[in-house]
Amino acid sequence: MKISLIGYRGTGKTTIGAKLAEDLHLGFIDADQLLQERAGRKISEIFATDGEPVFRQLEADLIHELANSKESFVLSTGGGVILRPENRAALQSAGPVVWLKATPRTICTRLKLDSATAHQRPALLAETKPDHTPEEQMLYEVTTLLARREPFYQETASFDVTTDERDETQIVREILEKL
Ligand code: S3P
Repeated sequence: MKISLIGYRGTGKTTIGAKLAEDLHLGFIDADQLLQERAGRKISEIFATDGEPVFRQLEADLIHELANSKESFVLSTGGGVILRPENRAALQSAGPVVWLKATPRTICTRLKLDSATAHQRPALLAETKPDHTPEEQMLYEVTTLLARREPFYQETASFDVTTDERDETQIVREILEKL
């Protein structure tokens, strides 16, 4: 059995995925982490040096490989994995897909709190608003991309779970109930 977690940055895919795997006595794979280990580079470096399309191809190759492997595990994916139809199909064919949701405000708060890794996150929206503060720009990016991506998360997910103002245990319990 493979259980995949999808959702925007800051929705808790890695934390929740690791706990879910522990509770189910399954292995845990963080796709972005594995991709970085194999590439020997941070995702931000791949974006900066080779560009986003190269990253998206590496991501698609890895998702294809994992979805077709014989192993059972919980898989945490990068927030943009749902952009390619072949990734959406691969995840759906591999097993249940859980969409972790959060509002743009919650996502921004979590990303700001996670300042240690902030510099490693590539900017995902080329468009910037010169009159915006960095906080306003972040909220603009998250709101814009979430609106674009939501139909794809919806289409791919077996079910969704809200993560706003809830702790890990509650979120994992709800996933286990819905599986
Ligand atoms: C991305 C999210 C990141 C990573 C890459 C692109 C996105 O993963 O895959 O920076 O397009 O939303 P996380 O969702 O784990 O931060």
